[in-house]
Amino acid sequence: MSGLIPQDFIDDLIARADIVEVVGRRVQLKKAGREFKACCPFHDEKTPSFTVSPGKGFYHCFGCGAHGTAIGFLMEFDHMSFVEAIESLASSMGVEVPRTESDKPARRYDELFSLMDTVARHFQSCLKSSPAAVEYVKNRGIDGTTAKRFGIGYAPDGWSNVLDKFGKSTEATERLLATGLIIRKDNGKHYDRFRDRIMFPIRDARGRTIGFGGRTLGDGEPKYLNSPETVLFHKGRELYGLYEARQALRHIEQLVVVEGYMDAVALARHGIDFAVATLGTATTSEHLNRLFRLTENLCFCFDGDRAGKAAAWRALENALPQIREGRQIRFVFLPEDQDPDSYVNEFGADAFVKAVDGGVALSEFLIRELASQVDMETVDGRARLAELARPLVNKIPAGVYRELLIDSLAGAVGLTAPKLEKMIAGGKTPAAGNAAQASSPGTRRRAPSATGRPSVVRHAITVVLNHPEAGRNLDVEKLAGVSRPGTDLLQALIETVHAEPNITTAGLLERWRHDEQGRHLGKLAAAGMPLDDDFDPAAELAECLEQLALAGRRERVDFLIQKQRVDGLDEQEKAELRQLN
Ligand code: UTP
Ligand code: MN
Repeated sequence: MSGLIPQDFIDDLIARADIVEVVGRRVQLKKAGREFKACCPFHDEKTPSFTVSPGKGFYHCFGCGAHGTAIGFLMEFDHMSFVEAIESLASSMGVEVPRTESDKPARRYDELFSLMDTVARHFQSCLKSSPAAVEYVKNRGIDGTTAKRFGIGYAPDGWSNVLDKFGKSTEATERLLATGLIIRKDNGKHYDRFRDRIMFPIRDARGRTIGFGGRTLGDGEPKYLNSPETVLFHKGRELYGLYEARQALRHIEQLVVVEGYMDAVALARHGIDFAVATLGTATTSEHLNRLFRLTENLCFCFDGDRAGKAAAWRALENALPQIREGRQIRFVFLPEDQDPDSYVNEFGADAFVKAVDGGVALSEFLIRELASQVDMETVDGRARLAELARPLVNKIPAGVYRELLIDSLAGAVGLTAPKLEKMIAGGKTPAAGNAAQASSPGTRRRAPSATGRPSVVRHAITVVLNHPEAGRNLDVEKLAGVSRPGTDLLQALIETVHAEPNITTAGLLERWRHDEQGRHLGKLAAAGMPLDDDFDPAAELAECLEQLALAGRRERVDFLIQKQRVDGLDEQEKAELRQLN
């Protein structure tokens, strides 16, 4: 398992490995400008289209699309496993792969874990001595036992409480920085990240604190401030409350996935110990993997607003590839204006459990949602539904579940199941109907990007990947509130560069190797960037972030204006709208 090898060892190895040497020992390379070329070892060719870039630590074949890092090359070329490739690379560089606790990198991790633990306990004791914070927690309906169980604490106001108490030496300050508890300013000075916030420690499967979420007591922005991505903490992987759930339950029959820290805590307070929260990100397939290892029965219960609905749909899309017989996935939609926290406080635990039991099955949600997007009364509309369903159904592994879903869909669109099955498999649009004829393959391929250009997020990701150093001084806070797909990933990439300023393209790819997005990143790195000398990646990235921030503000304005028309705005929203306009 890769988990046995510390990530910072892999980071280090990949940063120091010379990909030209690794590849060159197996394939004859020729220098061509800044890069090296060869006939591709992975497909037959006469003219060289296989390129190795020493700066990026990355190889790529323009002919067959093969690409990867030094580790990836060893895996492909020498048919090694991931761990074997690391061992081989390490031994060729004369270093040993650390595995036991007595090795240095492992010890560094231990120090970070123990620091997080100490700080978490410090926040807990600060809570006890702050009447205002205790008042807030009580007002939110959390009792002492629950607060203790979740280790809820308080970070007092002030710029250097944590820094002064825990950063007495240079090494200690470095550790605070590595765990994201403090932030470094341009002038080299530091300050506390969390100030005057209720602190929710985020724990890993073994109960070790790896990050924090901090909530303002009032209406400050952002409402929740989270630890950045660090060597200990990867947002897209963790689930808040999972450790606590496993502690509380001997046997986990089902897990309910909610959106917020407070949702998980409030449910636990009411004796519902099986709720876990994603940390302000979409439900990833890594989350799902983790959840399905514990139970076959999942229920998503998101907020009753538009964002909650969108989050449920993202969860559905990511869950499709993991559908198996025996697994149950349901969705609960709470009334507008409610989230699990408010719902359980208002109606009680029994009502919540009832709502969960009455959730709609994944198949039903899928069909209902697609049907709402088309006019089911017309032939065209039903053809369109089949068309919309195709990419989704294709994500489901073949089996009974898929058959059943196709049956239901066929019923809904008025086709026989075999006919629909054929359409879905063959990618053919149904013969009847104008809607179908309008989408020739050519027009369809361009459809995802309305402007015809690659999206800003995608472009920005490509730039960071190819020029990680360009992300060093970017202000990721700009991306707060931007909801475009991929923004989370962009933010995580930039934060990784902040934490590891010397990371290379290959280093970033290795960080994401075990993530579903890793594959796409490899392709973007391979797509490369313009080579002209005017190209200024840092300026380009800053520009992308500006554009995204602007788009985020516009979306928010549109939303507020819409809301103003439909149900009116409260004072805070009015002020926000005035400020944005
Ligand atoms: P919500 O805005 O739904 O918050 O965000 P909530 O859980 O209902 O919070 P309360 O009840 O007002 O305290 C859901 C989740 O999204 C992430 C957090 O993980 C939060 O729990 N989030 C939200 C952030 O990370 N930052 C924010 O500014 C807001
Ligand atoms: Mn809430």
